[in-house]
Amino acid sequence: MILIASDHGGLELKQAVKQMLEGRGIEVRDLGAISNDSVDYPDFGAKVASGVSRGEADQGILICGTGIGMSIVANKFPRVRAALVSDEFTARMAKEHNNANILVLGGRTQSPPRGVGLVQVWLDALFEGGRHQQRLDKIARLEEDLGSGRG
Ligand code: RB5
Repeated sequence: MILIASDHGGLELKQAVKQMLEGRGIEVRDLGAISNDSVDYPDFGAKVASGVSRGEADQGILICGTGIGMSIVANKFPRVRAALVSDEFTARMAKEHNNANILVLGGRTQSPPRGVGLVQVWLDALFEGGRHQQRLDKIARLEEDLGSGRG
């Protein structure tokens, strides 16, 4: 199951991504937004990021105009590794090296077909583990230290 959300700037791309995921038989939980009315991206970013952080879903997708605001929000949450990607290389690396559990896209920087393609690349890529796992372990330790006030 994949959690997905956008603000108004990401709505069109979100619909296209949902359609592709459902076409692949993947269950999608859409946490909004539901219209083109202007909304605040932190409200929607927090819904997906808290779900992934708590383990309700292994993966999430967030889309705002640029993807920048959603990235900032999502990476506040423990255990979230949110990656804003812009092309096929960064989409693949986000999984192979960073094991990103939230993919972030810009609805105003990617056309719907291009954005959908980036989600497919990320989904189909495999985390390489090894030295990359060591690096993720270091991030997790940083998160623990900062969270306990020892930062
Ligand atoms: C909304 O206008 C816009 O600021 C938002 O979609 C996003 O790009 C923020 O980073």
